[in-house]
This record gives sequence, structure tokens and C-alpha cells, in this order.
Amino acid sequence: MNPGARLVLLGRQGSGKGTQCTRLSRHYVVPHISTGDILRAAVRDGTEFGRRAREIMDAGNLVPDDVMVGIMDERLDRDDTRGRGFILDGFPRTVAQAEALERMTAPRGIDVAINLDLPREVALARLIARLICADCGTNYSTADPPKYGMTCDVCGGDVVHRDDDTEAAIVRRLDLYEEETAPLIAYFDERGVLETVDAMGTPDAVSERLTSIIDKRRN
Ligand code: AP5
Ligand code: MG
Repeated sequence: MNPGARLVLLGRQGSGKGTQCTRLSRHYVVPHISTGDILRAAVRDGTEFGRRAREIMDAGNLVPDDVMVGIMDERLDRDDTRGRGFILDGFPRTVAQAEALERMTAPRGIDVAINLDLPREVALARLIARLICADCGTNYSTADPPKYGMTCDVCGGDVVHRDDDTEAAIVRRLDLYEEETAPLIAYFDERGVLETVDAMGTPDAVSERLTSIIDKRRN
């Protein structure tokens, strides 16, 4: 990918956005900006904002658009995104956020939005099985846990279930995805930047599909 490339990964919760963004960010040496990770860091810091964000996240609801747009505006203003571009994971998630992103990145906009396509039932099963390192965010699953107990293979941190991976919160997030986020597929298609990638198969197989599409767009 060209230095300065601007990529958005779309897809329902559990489609592997976080997993694939981490890999793409290492492969292309581009910052991975995850709104979920930014919010979870605020929760860990114990700020008043973090406390409110935690309530919203644990219920599977969306943080208000104006708050998310403010966070993103600040993040995209940092120097690392100017040189290397960025990979967005979990933003935009509503049409209002997509319109704000268009304003923030004008006149060029974003280069490509990739929709990781995965049936709802498969996504649900992946989320119920998900384990995550509380320190570095590395993803595991009950079918593919860390090598030694619940200790992260990468950083030695504690591997846990995410607080919002209860069945009720997962179902709420998947419902909200249909209502609020799925319309972004048509939104980016109308702007000529949409690609769709099948998110079934192993993480390696999905990564290969992604890099082949991104490399094709580059040439
Ligand atoms: P966020 O952290 O973004 O969570 P999410 O949207 O619910 O998405 P997930 O992280 O659950 O799914 P993912 O697609 O990243 O899947 P993953 O790679 O982990 O947001 C959390 C909350 O913050 C939101 O609910 C909301 O409250 C708030 N928020 C964030 N952004 C916001 C915004 N813009 N506006 C408003 N509110 C916002 O994979 C899932 C599992 O599957 C893992 O266990 C993984 O190991 C496994 N897996 C991955 N790939 C494969 C594969 N190929 N085969 C088998 N298993 C796989
Ligand atoms: Mg994620």
C-alpha cells in the first residue's frame, strides 16, 4: 500500500476486523486506529468519560456520534497519520460518522473501504468464544487459547473474556450493526471505494484475500 494510504475496514462485530487490522497494520506499517481500543483505554484509565463509555459498551450500545467524531478528529490530526495514512477499525459506524469522516479527510477522502462479509450466526459464535489480552488486546478464542493458561503469548498479560461479550450485549451489537452500520456498505459503494472480502476461513486465508485486493488497488 502507498505510504499515506487511508483504509477503512467494515464488517459486523465478530467478522475479524480487529484481528485483520492488527495484521494489516504490521504488514504495511500503517497505524491501526480502533475506536473500541481507544474507548477501552479510557475505561482502564478510570476517567469520568471512561465510566460512561463502559456503561454504554457493556450494554452493547453505541457511544454518541458527536463524542466519537471528536475523538477521531483529534486522532486523525496526529502526525503519524499524515505520513503513513491509517487503517480504521470500528469507525465509521453510522452514516453521520461517515459524513464527518468525509469532512475530516477532504478533499481526498479515504482510498478503500473493505467490507469483511460474514454470516451473523458465524459472527455470533466467534464472539461467544472470544478471549482477549487485557493488556495488549491480542485476540484468542476458547478453541485457540494462549499456549500457557490465560497468559498472553505476546506480552504476558491476563487473557480474559471482554466485558461486553455477554450474549445479550452481543445480540444488541449485532442488531445495531444491521440498523446503523450496514447502510455504510451502500454509502461507500456509491463513492466507488467499496471492496467486499469473504471473512470465512482461517485468519491467514482472510489476510491473503485482503492484501491481494489492497495490492491490486495500489497498482
Ligand atoms: P469494538 O471494540 O469495535 O467492538 P465490536 O464492534 O463489537 O467489534 P468486535 O471487536 O466485537 O469484532 P471484530 O470484528 O473486531 O472481531 P475480532 O477480530 O475481535 O467496539 C466496542 C464498543 O465500543 C461498541 O459496542 C460501542 O459501544 C463502542 N464503539 C466503538 N466504536 C464506536 C463508534 N465508531 N461509534 C459508537 N460507538 C463505538 O474477532 C472476533 C473473534 O473471532 C476473536 O476471538 C478472533 O480470534 C476470532 N477470529 C477472527 N478471525 C477469525 C477467523 N478467520 N476464523 C476463526 N476465528 C476468527
Ligand atoms: Mg474489534
